[in-house]
Amino acid sequence: MVRIGIAGATGYTGLELVRLLLRHPEAEIVALTSETYQGKSVAETFPSLKGFCDLRLQPLDPRMADACDVVFLCLPHTAAMSQIPELLKRPARVIDLSADFRLRDAEVFEQWYHARHEHPELLGKAVYGLPELYRERIRSARFVANPGCYPTSVILALAPLMRTGWIDLDSIIADSKSGVSGAGRKAALSGQFSECNEGVAAYSVATHRHTPEIEQELSALAGRAIRVSFTPHLVPMTRGILSAVYANLTRDLTLEELVDHYRQHYRNEPFVRVLDQGTFASTRFVAGSNYCDIGLQVDPRTRRVVVTSAIDNLVKGASGQAVQNMNLMLGFEENVALNAPGIFP
Ligand SMILES: NC(=O)c1ccc[n+]([C@@H]2O[C@H](COP(=O)([O-])OP(=O)(O)OC[C@H]3O[C@@H](n4cnc5c(N)ncnc54)[C@H](OP(=O)(O)O)[C@@H]3O)[C@@H](O)[C@H]2O)c1
Repeated sequence: MVRIGIAGATGYTGLELVRLLLRHPEAEIVALTSETYQGKSVAETFPSLKGFCDLRLQPLDPRMADACDVVFLCLPHTAAMSQIPELLKRPARVIDLSADFRLRDAEVFEQWYHARHEHPELLGKAVYGLPELYRERIRSARFVANPGCYPTSVILALAPLMRTGWIDLDSIIADSKSGVSGAGRKAALSGQFSECNEGVAAYSVATHRHTPEIEQELSALAGRAIRVSFTPHLVPMTRGILSAVYANLTRDLTLEELVDHYRQHYRNEPFVRVLDQGTFASTRFVAGSNYCDIGLQVDPRTRRVVVTSAIDNLVKGASGQAVQNMNLMLGFEENVALNAPGIFP
């Protein structure tokens, strides 16, 4: 059995990891951390786990890795950063769900996160954990930086187009909507029911921290610097991200050609579903699952392509993708513990 430690197990992504790993036949959860609830049983803190896991929550200490084969970090950005050097001295594999090691350039991190990067020397050691882009590198990685939720939905929406020459690469606009769990469990005014219910609001327009992550990976795919207009919105639902991504066409293109191209590009991907013509992505159909659904349209009137993509931010956008990465790193079938449909009708 693979021994698992989860740092930050009382947050949304930590709890989702516990839920997913409990059904992994090769995994045994041996350590869970929390500062606020240390000493309490995790099932006391989350009654949904009663009868499944009664580990006692312990304070975070990198020595937890001595008893683990894999450590997941589900901590806020900058809190994860300081733990990594000590963790990497040990043989355990490390999967960090925070943004601390996703950007390859420390200056870009500091510019967007308004915080000093304490360990720029380790940035080169992290593999960006998007299997659809870096599967082979993930297989041999010791340290994976798990992607952000918005970047997962936008990068997967655009990846098949970046090398085709079919779109004007300087015309990309990504308009995304997220459920409230995307901001984590900690109390924040904007996430309170009476603040976000009955409304949809744009936020961090042109300044959202996921913008450089999206641009970094699209640039790598295109082979040249890409800039994206990215507008996130908060939607009063618990889970889910829906992105609508637009780009100007540089040639005539039929919807049939576009769908065929996406199907061909993602033909071996276990967790990307390219929808039939006339069908568009919906968060309802991926909720609770590790799928990214992609629905396509060509608009000949405006000469634009429109790509819709939907994920569950806590699964393909975070903990499911982290388990997918763990499976790759340990040589398991990629879909173990993840091979399940969405939970809504
Ligand atoms: N939510 C999403 O959809 C999503 C998607 C992709 C990536 N992420 C990233 O994943 C990470 C976790 O997100 P989340 O949504 O799970 O956050 P969260 O719900 O706020 O949970 C954060 C966890 O970290 C612990 N924690 C907070 N500060 C800590 C510190 N200084 N030292 C040790 N433990 C600390 C908390 O424990 P206690 O309060 O119990 O002590 C809690 O268990 C973040 O970096 C986030 O950006 C989140």
